[in-house]
Amino acid sequence: MRVNKRGHLEIGGCDTVELAERYGTPLYIMDEELLRKNCRRFRNALRQHYPRGQIIFAGKAFLVLAMARLVAEEGLGLDVVSGGELYTALKAGFPLERIYFHGNNKSLAELEQALDTGTGNIVVDNMMELEDLMELTRQKGKKVAVFLRLRPGVEAHTHEYIQTGQEDSKFGFALEEALAAVELVLSVPAQLELAGFHCHIGSQIFQIESFRPAAQRMLDFMALVRDKADYTVPRLNMGGGLGIRYRSSDTPPSIETFVANLAAAVTEAAAEKNFPLPELLLEPGRSICGEAGITLYRVGTIKEVPGVRRYVAVDGGMMDNIRPALYGAGYEAMLANKAADNGMVAVTVAGKACESGDILIENTLLPPVEKGDLLAVFSTGAYCYAMASNYNRNPRPAVLFVRDGQARLVVRRESYDDLISLDV
Ligand code: LLP
Repeated sequence: MRVNKRGHLEIGGCDTVELAERYGTPLYIMDEELLRKNCRRFRNALRQHYPRGQIIFAGKAFLVLAMARLVAEEGLGLDVVSGGELYTALKAGFPLERIYFHGNNKSLAELEQALDTGTGNIVVDNMMELEDLMELTRQKGKKVAVFLRLRPGVEAHTHEYIQTGQEDSKFGFALEEALAAVELVLSVPAQLELAGFHCHIGSQIFQIESFRPAAQRMLDFMALVRDKADYTVPRLNMGGGLGIRYRSSDTPPSIETFVANLAAAVTEAAAEKNFPLPELLLEPGRSICGEAGITLYRVGTIKEVPGVRRYVAVDGGMMDNIRPALYGAGYEAMLANKAADNGMVAVTVAGKACESGDILIENTLLPPVEKGDLLAVFSTGAYCYAMASNYNRNPRPAVLFVRDGQARLVVRRESYDDLISLDV
């Protein structure tokens, strides 16, 4: 991203003011080069710091056909968490053996969809799912590789809603019940192959030391399975969770530091247990696509509450970015058409939803804002389009990939007719 001679914000070599005119607002814009670069940084770092492994993109962060294709081209695997994400991956022609099907409450229909399409890996979350899967594979005479998702009892330092590895969580097997699950899987070798274990301790994590105890507990358990069930599990998936920079004050570890630390934690934990190094899988979502995206809005109403604040309302809000309202997430913005001007007025950026909590950014500095200006909000590439809604019957924005001065529409803007198209 840079400011061009006209004082406009440029992304992927494209002038954002021109993009807004051509494609309308609100508009999600993704820097394709940065998406690809992040994929490569993860792969290269893993290759450098660990003998065998795979990077799997967590599709929940942002999954559309174009993204699935990009991820496939970059040689990553794909984590899907619903029939809909799986369908998207399949329609994109994603290599089946590199798909990992997650979810804490997969329906029978979703499990069948996975088995019937030859989806490579199922990450089993709980005993009921395991029983369903045993029954289905028996009926269908199919075999599938499974991972068991474990709850290592480690708390990552992040927002409570996005912590997942702690004891009290809806995700995964408790370590105490996991051995029974292992034995069940091993009892049906013609149907299930125990490919590995999985854990995910949380998201938007800056303190990567949290991964060390998680790696230790996973390896402890792998050693226990070796001793008790005489089975050496070949793969370990440590999940995702690396944080990104939303605001200038955020200083997340780099992709390289994160991967190097995790690789070291797993290597050391394996050595302590005298366990052969498992293949290491990592499942980043946010850190691949978050900083690659921006959202462009058009400024509308400006309202002064004397002595309190100045509200600047934009043509989107919680329907295209629920994160401030849901997690209290902070963002930074810039006037894309006045990108060379210096910030000097304190404003609060509000959305257009009928909800007082629909505030995108509280108290930020912008150059004097006028109606019609373009506001660019940064780091919206993850969990924004993916969590977008039609609240107040607002159509969802379009998504563009930009690269080398070229823009490519990858999701078209919804129309009003789209909004009523499902109404019967
Ligand atoms: N693997 C599993 C099993 C996960 O549950 C998640 C995220 C990931 C990988 C990817 O984590 P990441 O690298 O993106 O941190 N909607 C929330 C984030 C929820 C994350 C859920 N699981 C947000 O907007 O912050």
